[in-house]
Amino acid sequence: MRVVILENADQVAGRAASLVLQQVQRKPDSVLGLATGGTPLATYRRLVDAARSGQVAFHQVTTFNLDEYVGLTADHPQSYRTYMRKELFEPAGFDLSRCHLPDGTRVAWEELQRECQSYERQIRESGGIDLQILGIGTDGHIAFNEPGSSLASRTRVKALTEQTRQDNARFFASPDDVPKLAITMGIGTILEARQIVLLATGGQKAKAVHALVEGPLTAQVPASALQMHPQVTVLLDVEAASWLARKDYYQHVEAIQSALESGGQIP
Ligand code: PGA
Repeated sequence: MRVVILENADQVAGRAASLVLQQVQRKPDSVLGLATGGTPLATYRRLVDAARSGQVAFHQVTTFNLDEYVGLTADHPQSYRTYMRKELFEPAGFDLSRCHLPDGTRVAWEELQRECQSYERQIRESGGIDLQILGIGTDGHIAFNEPGSSLASRTRVKALTEQTRQDNARFFASPDDVPKLAITMGIGTILEARQIVLLATGGQKAKAVHALVEGPLTAQVPASALQMHPQVTVLLDVEAASWLARKDYYQHVEAIQSALESGGQIP
C-alpha cells in the first residue's frame, strides 16, 4: 500500500487527477471505476478542466460507478446518476452510453437481484476495471460495503448504517429522505480492479484511515480489505493522516519512491 500524505485537499485532488490522466493518456479506452460523495468532487473538477483544455479525451473511456441508492428516480437530484452526469460525464465529454451505474430505480427484490448480476457481468465483459477511485466512510466502509460485509462480497443490495445515513443527510432536504438501501459493488468486486486509488481528506476520516492502513484485516472495517491488494495508493491530507502511527516511515518511503520515479537518485 502506497500511503501519500499531502498538505491539503487540493493537493490530494491534484494527485488523484494526475493518476487518472496518466491512465487515460496511456490507454484511451480505459475502464475507470468511479465514486461519488464530497471527496472526489475536486478531482472531477480537475478532470473537467483537463478535458476542456485538450490534455485528455474521455469519449472512449468506459466507467462503472461503485453504487447507487435504491428507490430514487434516475433524474432525482440526489441520485448518483445525476451527480455523475453533472459533475463529470457531461462537462468532461464522456460518452454516456459507456457510463454505467447500478439501476436502483426498480425496487422489486427479484429485479434488484437481476440488476446486481447484470452489473457484475457488464464489468466482466468490459475486460475489468483498470483504475478504481474510492472514498472511505467514517465507519470504514468502501462503496456501500458497511461494517460486517463479506470480504468476498459481490455486487448486491445493502442496508445503509445509521452512521452513513446521517453522514449523507447533508445532501438531502431532510435526514428521513436518505434512502435505506443501495446497490453496491462488493468488496470482492472492488479488489479485482487492477489499480485502486483511495482518497480521504479531513479529520473526520482519520480514525477510519488508521484502521484501513494500520488496523487488522477485518470485515468490521471493510476498507482494511485493501491491504490484500497489490496496487493501492492512499492519498491523504494531513488531517486524514493524523491518526497514523507510522507517518514518518510512509513519508520516507514516498520521498524515495518519487525521487526514483522521476529519474533521480535515492535521497
Ligand atoms: P464522502 O463519502 O466523500 O462524502 O466523505 C465517502 C464515502 O462514504 O465513501
